[in-house]
Amino acid sequence: MPAGRTVKNMNKRNELPVGVFDSGIGGLTVAREIMRQMPREKIVYFGDTARVPYGSKSKETICTYSEQIVRFLLSQEVKAIVVACNTASAYALPQIEPHCPVPIIGVVEPGARTAVRATKVGKVGVIGTKATISSGIYDRCIRDIRPGTQVLGRACPLFVPLVEEGLWEDPVTDEIARRYLLELMNEGIDTLILGCTHYPLIRKTIARIVGPDVQLVNPAYETAMELQALLERENLLASEAPSLGSAESQYRFYVSDMAEQFKTFANSIIKYGILSAKTIRIDQY
Ligand code: DGL
Repeated sequence: MPAGRTVKNMNKRNELPVGVFDSGIGGLTVAREIMRQMPREKIVYFGDTARVPYGSKSKETICTYSEQIVRFLLSQEVKAIVVACNTASAYALPQIEPHCPVPIIGVVEPGARTAVRATKVGKVGVIGTKATISSGIYDRCIRDIRPGTQVLGRACPLFVPLVEEGLWEDPVTDEIARRYLLELMNEGIDTLILGCTHYPLIRKTIARIVGPDVQLVNPAYETAMELQALLERENLLASEAPSLGSAESQYRFYVSDMAEQFKTFANSIIKYGILSAKTIRIDQY
């Protein structure tokens, strides 16, 4: 093959979008970080708004749903995939990764690495969905990185509906957060992983309850950094600067239900002006 054609094909691949998915709106906190850190990258986002929450479902269901979404994203010709959901990262990523034709990363390992760096007393708290906490994934990851670190998990199942209901700053959320977090505080943690991509949206409430001595870790930041390193390693970084006013073609959003509601939510999280979100039948993938 002539060298010119190889370079052209390679460049074409570089300009393909990155696929990002979550069970709903939570993954937008990761997409937002990717947009901020890598403004040249295109994104295809899928939020499974018809089937949220994943956190109270079985491993089999979480895997089936995630596999369908990966097939959908591949049909959109993505060059890499970010599983922007801790629950799917915990259960489905290990199953999908070995046969995924494009590089795929989750949010758990980046979050675990940040927490290990942050803790001074060696006691890390993790909050997440029931499924994520009972998977023990953060325990394993953190202890692999630094054996001897104490990891204390707490499922916070009411946080996702509170976030999805828009109660980000509300006395009800304060009260529930207090109940969930008090126990962890009494254990003397100095670092708390927001182990669900919905939780950064109530970060202020969580910070208020745990106080200034506990460092909050949002895995989104480190995940975006890991994506950048991965794309660099694979020679897949986008090289073309997006044209002005091209947010709609640069960022495409798909959901399985309630596209209008999603759009309103997304516009309050992402400041790029999401002009449309399209509903698709994800069960057909
Ligand atoms: N955003 C998902 C996560 O990070 C949780 C929401 C859900 O339960 O579907 O785990």
